[in-house]
Amino acid sequence: MNSKKMNVGMLGYAFMGKVHSNGYRQMPRFFFPPPAVPVLKCICGRKEEKVKMAMEMLGWEEYTTDWQDLVRRDDIDIFDNSGPNNIHKEPVIAAAEAGKHILCEKPLAMNEDDARDMATAVKKAGVKAMVGFNYRRVPAIMLARKLIEDGYIGKVYHYRATYLQDWIMDPEFPLVWRLKKDSAGSGPHGDLNAHILDLSLMLVGEISKVCGMTETFIKERPVVGASGDLGSAKADGSKMAPVTVEDAAIFMAKFKNGALGTFEATRFAKGRRNFNRIEINGSKGSIVFNLERMNELQFYSEEDPKFAQGFRTINVTEGGGVHPYTDKWWPAGHIIGYEHTFTHEIYELMRAISEDTDISPNFEDGVYNNRVLDKVLESVEKKTWISI
Ligand SMILES: NC(=O)c1ccc[n+]([C@@H]2O[C@H](COP(=O)([O-])OP(=O)(O)OC[C@H]3O[C@@H](n4cnc5c(N)ncnc54)[C@H](O)[C@@H]3O)[C@@H](O)[C@H]2O)c1
Repeated sequence: MNSKKMNVGMLGYAFMGKVHSNGYRQMPRFFFPPPAVPVLKCICGRKEEKVKMAMEMLGWEEYTTDWQDLVRRDDIDIFDNSGPNNIHKEPVIAAAEAGKHILCEKPLAMNEDDARDMATAVKKAGVKAMVGFNYRRVPAIMLARKLIEDGYIGKVYHYRATYLQDWIMDPEFPLVWRLKKDSAGSGPHGDLNAHILDLSLMLVGEISKVCGMTETFIKERPVVGASGDLGSAKADGSKMAPVTVEDAAIFMAKFKNGALGTFEATRFAKGRRNFNRIEINGSKGSIVFNLERMNELQFYSEEDPKFAQGFRTINVTEGGGVHPYTDKWWPAGHIIGYEHTFTHEIYELMRAISEDTDISPNFEDGVYNNRVLDKVLESVEKKTWISI
């Protein structure tokens, strides 16, 4: 194999750190020969003991507790930012200035201004930079895009997206970084709406105006220490502090092409663990995607004979170029999962770097995402529609 090796330096070793590490390890084995071989060079976290353990567990060669050292190292080619939202901007700009290619988790930044600064830095440096909107890489989502682009559902009238979770409904659940404005920027809005907003950009296009509402159902929670690891933080019960982000965020949108959009993101949908569902209705047909059944796409077409009309379920696992990415994995019908979307993402990152092609979603997509998120919060504050 003649593929070039590229050294990766990654910030964060918890949820996304683990998922990305798996993607880097798997990609060259399944996308063979790979466009480039990622070398898991150095992983970064704040606590030495924990990051050392992560290095061993996730298969990295070295560790550091200082991201400033990481981004300046001459032997790092790609900087992967899998840290909380408030630690995206500074390390990404420093990495771009040091000439590193970048994969940054979503949302790109805490707000549009920060995202713009990041996009400007990568443009100036001439490096490749991708935002981690991994759901773009679900084969069924890519099929949805093909059906829309090829006119199978006609003119799009509705984009209806819900992203529902329930992991913080216990009032004793502690005040982790995702529940604080200064570390997360916003709650499920920047976390979950960011994803379904990115998919709307890919599937329907840009939005012209928005109107939203938010609610924080539980106003204060037990304080925790520095740990930000989702699900692992423990309440000490002794001190309470205010929750500074919303628990649910809902908004309506008008797309530039005339379609209507509704977006709902909440962490208070009892029984819904990670329910990401999108329905798109057009003049000739409809499409439904649900992450809980991510190998499938529901499709209704009025071009079917009247007696056979109804939603059909397409199993999006055909190889031989019929469905994207699937022939890199298993025979048709042998389904793939959440982690595969990140392997696809890393394949696209390495391909864009080694072939010097455009990257998607790029930092301009990330800026757009942050802009719409900001405008929704502005509309909540001003209690009115806001133009994008
Ligand atoms: N693409 C997706 O589907 C998806 C899913 C979950 C999270 N995310 C995004 O990924 C990012 C990380 O989320 P997560 O769920 O992995 O969080 P997490 O809390 O599980 O992990 C955060 C990691 O960052 C490390 N960290 C925090 N501050 C640091 C610092 N100053 N220096 C070095 N390391 C630091 C923590 O030690 C931890 O390892 C967020 O931006 C989040 O929105 C994306």
